[in-house]
Amino acid sequence: MVEGSPRRRNSRTIDDISRDLFEGESTEPLGYGLGVSPDKVHGADMPQPASLRSIPGPTLAYSRGDTPLPARARDYPELRYMGSKQRLLPWIHDILHELDFNSVLDPFSGGGCVGYLLKAMNKRVVASDFLNFPKEFAKATIENNGHHLDGPAIKTLLRAGRSKNQGFVERTFSGIFYKPSDLRFIDRISMNIPKLADEYQQSIARAALLRSCLKRQPRGVFTVSGNLAKYDDGRRDLRLSIEEHFLEQIEVFNSVVFDNGKRNFALRNDVFAGRTENIDLVYLDPPYVPRSDDNCYIKRYHFLEGLSCNWEGLEIDYDTKVRKIAKRYTPFSYRRTAIDAFERMFHKFRNQIVVMSYSSNGFPELDVLVALLERQKKKITVHKRPHRYHFGTHAAVSRAIVDEYLIVGE
Ligand SMILES: C[S@@+](CC[C@H](N)C(=O)[O-])C[C@H]1O[C@@H](n2cnc3c(N)ncnc32)[C@H](O)[C@@H]1O
Repeated sequence: MVEGSPRRRNSRTIDDISRDLFEGESTEPLGYGLGVSPDKVHGADMPQPASLRSIPGPTLAYSRGDTPLPARARDYPELRYMGSKQRLLPWIHDILHELDFNSVLDPFSGGGCVGYLLKAMNKRVVASDFLNFPKEFAKATIENNGHHLDGPAIKTLLRAGRSKNQGFVERTFSGIFYKPSDLRFIDRISMNIPKLADEYQQSIARAALLRSCLKRQPRGVFTVSGNLAKYDDGRRDLRLSIEEHFLEQIEVFNSVVFDNGKRNFALRNDVFAGRTENIDLVYLDPPYVPRSDDNCYIKRYHFLEGLSCNWEGLEIDYDTKVRKIAKRYTPFSYRRTAIDAFERMFHKFRNQIVVMSYSSNGFPELDVLVALLERQKKKITVHKRPHRYHFGTHAAVSRAIVDEYLIVGE
């Protein structure tokens, strides 16, 4: 990375200001406290951090953060998904709000909060992910414009019965996750979901069951198993049974269903496989090569991925303590393949406005990404703000303070 020019005495860089703003947990946008007009300010007028000064093309922009977030977007259920942008939604909205587009693709939809925000902005949304369980959340909340789980459907779901796969979850995960009564309940609901004739009712039931399992699992990940008493801090989520959670979650997912007047879609797709016709803007939130640990979604969420399709077509590795399924390869997770993957992805979306989330602890570095995007786009703007990712509850390993970027290519 090229060093920037020396700082003027008493002049504070944006990095200084962002550090100050970030004491504790600032939710203020970076634009405040700069002593300049809080409207969007472009690079030439502003002191820039070294990483951005070294980029010739893009401008650095600040947003006021005062465009009200659509009320519905605030109601989206919190999933504590790894890399979730839920707490950044007001900032992301502020930037998206300025761009001219009607249809949008969110091909790394994950927990689904950004796709749902876009739906609440009355855009036509296509949300997809290469895993199956994110598709279920997106189908229940984004594609679904009006179907609810009503009384008769809930009765069908709760009915006791037998099936050929009787007790699969209980047999496979006893002593690993949850109590036997919870596992039996998961089996019962999984068996009954296909009995609902309406596919959107099915997806609400799946989303409610998935979130129940997530809430009831300490730290919200499936890497830990067995006696998890040490994680029990008395939280309500850990005291409730899966059945109690499920009944609450039906209400939660029923309450976020709305019609934005557009035909929206939820898909399971690799980012390189999806179609781009009739898409004006693409919001990209790929996983990034981590500096330490790993970023494998299957390692953390294998139980949810299996549950979302009753483990059909998935092979369980019985030699693993937590009964994992095979990891899914993505080129974004490895140093040797990531740059090529970004290059191919930017080429694929050369006709769309690109809005990409990225953070300062990712690889490649910001200036490399901007240089790649500049090959496809005339105008690049980099928005920046500090962000603290919370992941699980294990303070030492699970909190990362990073600079979060939104790179806009037009
Ligand atoms: C950082 S997360 C997205 C988080 C999401 N924006 C949110 O706020 O919840 C990245 C997502 O990319 C998905 N993913 C990874 N590689 C992919 C690929 N090649 N194609 C599609 N999705 C992929 C992962 O399954 C994961 O859900």
